[in-house]
Amino acid sequence: MTAVEVVAHRGATAEAPEHTMAAYRQAAAVGADAVECDVRLTRDGVLVCVHDRQVRRTSNGRGIVSALHLAELEQFQFGARRPKGRSRWADDEILSVTDEPDLENGLVLTLDRLLDYITATPGSLRLAIETKHPTRHTRKVEEALVDCLRRYGLLGNGRPVEWAGRPAVRMMSFSQLAVRRMADLAPGMPTVQLIGKRLRPVRRELLLGNATAMGPGIALIRADPAFVADAHAAGKEVHVWTVNRPADMDLMRELGVDAVITDRPDEMLRRLGRD
Ligand code: G3P
Ligand code: CA
Repeated sequence: MTAVEVVAHRGATAEAPEHTMAAYRQAAAVGADAVECDVRLTRDGVLVCVHDRQVRRTSNGRGIVSALHLAELEQFQFGARRPKGRSRWADDEILSVTDEPDLENGLVLTLDRLLDYITATPGSLRLAIETKHPTRHTRKVEEALVDCLRRYGLLGNGRPVEWAGRPAVRMMSFSQLAVRRMADLAPGMPTVQLIGKRLRPVRRELLLGNATAMGPGIALIRADPAFVADAHAAGKEVHVWTVNRPADMDLMRELGVDAVITDRPDEMLRRLGRD
């Protein structure tokens, strides 16, 4: 059994706002093995790390990421911490972080800037990239991702470079089509088929599909822990998200999953005796 890989979800988001350099630096500081990010294409074809289709939850701007140019996104302040129960930030709360979007926290994070950081110290953090798929840009996201990874020297002959015996990057998606597309574009790229709410009806199909790993949500594994052994028997890794409760972390260790995606990488590492 390989060691459980600890993956910081959008960075160490229990301690810093999602998809900010502060969150990624914190993940590195606590010793996470890898970080996760979501990517979307802007209207002018730039990959940015933004989870939602719209920017209103995580910035003081309005609009749909795929309908905005990068220069427009760069006018918004990203990265404040959203108060509980609030659907968006109040402008004064965002501006209290910094007055102008700054490189460290406020400026929308491009995948390039995240890769600049990760490749500056090769091997310190692997990267799990989830592609998000609005109608605009269907098909283009994976192509842009492959181009980007090639530019950074992370993908040679369709296969990622290895850091500490594991691929430096992998692609994840809830879309089976996107996973297949990535397998066509870069046959050696590890892919994670994310699974949302309905594991049972699709279980066989997913296990037989061409993703190298299955990515069920934690609720599915609580309900069906045998899925982990079944996936392993089918030759698939199991990467579970988003595991934040201590009891779930312990369950992941007991079941021997391959990767745990968590907002609290420090706590997961502690529970693995790696702090
Ligand atoms: O790592 C998979 C997980 O991030 C999927 O859910 O909504 O956080 O992108 P979401
Ligand atoms: Ca994600």
